[in-house]
Amino acid sequence: MAVLTTVLRKIQMKPSKIKTLKGKKPDEAPAEVSRRSFLSILWSALGLAALMEFLWMTFSFLRPAKPGSAENQANTVIHAGAVASFVPGTVTAFQSGEFYIVRLDDGGLLALSCKCTHLGCTVPWIEKEKKFLCPCHASAFDITGNVINSPATRSLDIFPVIIENNIVRVDTGKRIKRGNFDPKQVIYPPKV
Ligand code: FES
Repeated sequence: MAVLTTVLRKIQMKPSKIKTLKGKKPDEAPAEVSRRSFLSILWSALGLAALMEFLWMTFSFLRPAKPGSAENQANTVIHAGAVASFVPGTVTAFQSGEFYIVRLDDGGLLALSCKCTHLGCTVPWIEKEKKFLCPCHASAFDITGNVINSPATRSLDIFPVIIENNIVRVDTGKRIKRGNFDPKQVIYPPKV
């Protein structure tokens, strides 16, 4: 609408520019000609305003949500399941979020990234050997994600674990890089 206002203002400020074909003064010009000019400009301005509004709406729709916004967080928080569904001493893979839920023997929970910290290959959990083993260059990690075999030098990344009403959720939008495993990283379900 700002465009339309500017166009209308220009029309009011410069009446001398509205001349007839025969060079008559504006107040002598046939009303029909000036009305047509006015309508023509008006429709052009309305068309331009509509186009700009359409472009703005398209841009708003396609623009990614700001990191940390409620909209963005809703997209990255994954419902992993009930606490009781994770048996102590087990590792559960989640393909959708590319992470593992590790339930330690003492009941604590960790959400480990499945990307190797060497060059990013996916590391499968080898149940028989009780370790994550990278197929690319043989880095190995224990159940807490700590390096037990190079060339990787850092523990597997983790994601925040949220426990509410005995349901485990993982925020895959907040990857946490770490040097080594620290017991403070383990999340425990509230005692009942
Ligand atoms: S990418 Fe895993 S060891 Fe190189």
